Amino acid sequence: MAESNQPVVRLTNVKKTYKLGSSQVQAVRGISLAVPPRCFTMIVGPSGSGKTTLLNLIGCIDRPSSGTVEIAGQDIARLGDNALSDLRARRIGFIFQSFSLIPVLSAYENVEYPLLSTDISAKDRRRAVLDMLDAVGLKDQRSQRPNELSGGQKQRVAIARALVKQPEFVLADEPTANLDSGTGASIIELMRKMQVEKNTSFIFSTHDPQLISHADKTFAIRDGLLVDQSAGGKQ
Ligand SMILES: Nc1ncnc2c1ncn2[C@@H]1O[C@H](COP(=O)(O)OP(=O)(O)OP(=O)(O)O)[C@@H](O)[C@H]1O
Ligand SMILES: [Mg+2]
Repeated sequence: MAESNQPVVRLTNVKKTYKLGSSQVQAVRGISLAVPPRCFTMIVGPSGSGKTTLLNLIGCIDRPSSGTVEIAGQDIARLGDNALSDLRARRIGFIFQSFSLIPVLSAYENVEYPLLSTDISAKDRRRAVLDMLDAVGLKDQRSQRPNELSGGQKQRVAIARALVKQPEFVLADEPTANLDSGTGASIIELMRKMQVEKNTSFIFSTHDPQLISHADKTFAIRDGLLVDQSAGGKQ
């Protein structure tokens, strides 16, 4: 079967205004972009330029004030709140700068967590979790809790958790910000391995020059507007 070259995400003239007391903050002021499939796409820009706001819109955590957000060709404005949280839970993986693991759960249970709300059988769930832990090199640490893991190991658990449900794409907000450069390099290498093996797409917000050097596609934003886009190796 031919692989689709349809963008994984398309934004058309998207605006997001936050209300702050009696004033308004225009965090995103009209951005149109298409995220190519099977790539490392980076959203870069200075602090306060709207990167996290944009990721929250792409991740369906938030809805735009105006404009359209399409995920795999589907306009999310047509979805009710339940359908939208279902799409978010099933089709989008999330990785955060601060790992966001559940502290009382083991590495195994953290990776298993997103599958508990699906109808996968217990046997298949166990297989999927062990395969993911193996893929990120943490099979032997599967019983350890987050506070018994290093920063790099925690981020490996977060990567496994994001990918275990085989999402359409993975969103990662500054995933290397809390890691030293050596650990950051191994996490970037792991994410690339996963991107290729699972045939998925990663969308990053980042300031990290090391991560940016691996971009296939870069969108530069400033003051809520797209100011530049460039293509790397794959595009
Ligand atoms: N919930 C909110 N309510 C009001 N204003 C907000 C809210 N979230 C973000 N903003 C404002 O929107 C603008 C964009 O913020 P955003 O967090 O998207 O920036 P960023 O590019 O991710 O910055 P950083 O690099 O520091 O993470 C900023 O002016 C910020 O103060
Ligand atoms: Mg941010």
